Amino acid sequence: MSPVHSHIKASEPGNALTAALQFLHLTAAAVWVGGLVVLGSIAAGLRRAGATPDVMRAMARSYGRVAWPAMVVAVITGLWSADRLSTDLASGAGLAKLSLVAAATALAGLHQATARRSSPAVRGALQAGILAVSLGIVAAAVAL
Ligand code: HEM
Repeated sequence: MSPVHSHIKASEPGNALTAALQFLHLTAAAVWVGGLVVLGSIAAGLRRAGATPDVMRAMARSYGRVAWPAMVVAVITGLWSADRLSTDLASGAGLAKLSLVAAATALAGLHQATARRSSPAVRGALQAGILAVSLGIVAAAVAL
């Protein structure tokens, strides 16, 4: 189903739940991806202002407290929407999206577990990878 056709009108009977799921799905996706972009910008600004590693860690932890629940909401509402809209998750775009969601989650988990002891170069590479893969999820979603 094309993205245009997957967007349904809440006024049609029985569609309020689907509309609510789409609202939650898109809001959660925006929090995850938009948050990454804003986090990167704020981190660069804080570093320029001479923030200590403790301050940088506190900021990253605050982001995680919002971003991880958002990812959980995106996955649950995405699977639920796909079921209600009969979206073919076994299609090329479906499989690409599921793989990218798994990759973004794995990279973000790895980054969180290793950021404290890894070099700035490794940290930066992982952060760039998480952002690139997350933008890839959005691209695959548009093609779904
Ligand atoms: C298991 C995980 C996921 C599944 C099964 C899934 C499934 C879907 C489905 C069925 C749609 C179309 C219906 C709707 O708008 O609700 C959709 C749209 C969308 N999803 Fe997901 N999703 C998942 C995770 C994510 C994540 C983690 C993100 C963001 C990082 C995301 C971003 C989007 C965006 C931006 C759209 C709107 C695309 C458009 O309408 O053009 N999704 N997803």
